[in-house]
Amino acid sequence: MSRRFDISGRTVLLTGASSGVGAALAARLVERDCRVVAWSRRPPPIGGPSIIHEAVDLSDMAALDAALDGLLERHPELSVVINNAGVSERADLADGDPARLDELAEIQIAVNLQAPIRICQRLFAPFSRRGTAMIVNNTSGLAVAPTVPHPVYCASKAGLRAFTQSMRYQAEAAGGQIAVIEILLAVVETPLNAGYAGRKMPVDKAVDRIMRGLAKAEPEIWVGQAALLRRIAGISPALARHILKVATG
Ligand SMILES: NC(=O)c1ccc[n+]([C@@H]2O[C@H](COP(=O)([O-])OP(=O)(O)OC[C@H]3O[C@@H](n4cnc5c(N)ncnc54)[C@H](OP(=O)(O)O)[C@@H]3O)[C@@H](O)[C@H]2O)c1
Repeated sequence: MSRRFDISGRTVLLTGASSGVGAALAARLVERDCRVVAWSRRPPPIGGPSIIHEAVDLSDMAALDAALDGLLERHPELSVVINNAGVSERADLADGDPARLDELAEIQIAVNLQAPIRICQRLFAPFSRRGTAMIVNNTSGLAVAPTVPHPVYCASKAGLRAFTQSMRYQAEAAGGQIAVIEILLAVVETPLNAGYAGRKMPVDKAVDRIMRGLAKAEPEIWVGQAALLRRIAGISPALARHILKVATG
């Protein structure tokens, strides 16, 4: 079920606003008169009074806790969070150095899964006391069907998808004030997949689709080719997995 959600004028916590999808989203939110509290290590490319950059390394849980402490005191009007930051690494399990594989796995699990869970768990209860609020998690089409070279990335995104679905049930049980949204992107032209030679969706087009989905509070915003993957997985999850395996092997 979807409903309308007016994001204009809101205070929004946006992770990963320094690059790619997050940077483009930050610009769109400012156009809608939002105040954007931007969490990333680097500052967002756009500045101005509506962007408040708080430098946070989301792979460091102590740093994240420090940023979460006092967040609602610093930004009492906060009513939307968009967990967008993400990191993707290849992992060659046959030839990779196990210590290096562990290091990369820990970072991806921290940034892609542990940090958004921690942010949701801190904000869910206060948000449920707001008139309306929204929690958005940016997973991936790869949460539905994994690739060959990115086992940890895909696992972290599948984990965040499951967490988001369960959180949506709890939001409904809590009275429905919080809209819980998941974004599932196809391949978008950003630094995240600079090494990928195939077709990529322009970031502005992807963000157009995301903004339309947020306005309608669509529970799942399937962007570009991810919408096709959804249809295929709806008919046959095994076929969807096979297509991704063959395409990326
Ligand atoms: N691009 C795609 O094709 C695609 C497809 C499916 C899903 N997604 C998802 O979409 C989201 C945005 O990706 P993107 O393509 O826009 O990637 P991107 O251009 O590489 O941007 C990634 C963002 O995440 C932040 N980030 C990474 N590690 C961080 C850390 N340790 N602490 C704080 N922030 C960190 C980066 O900020 P700093 O480096 O400044 O810290 C940056 O702002 C990700 O969750 C990604 O998994 C992307």
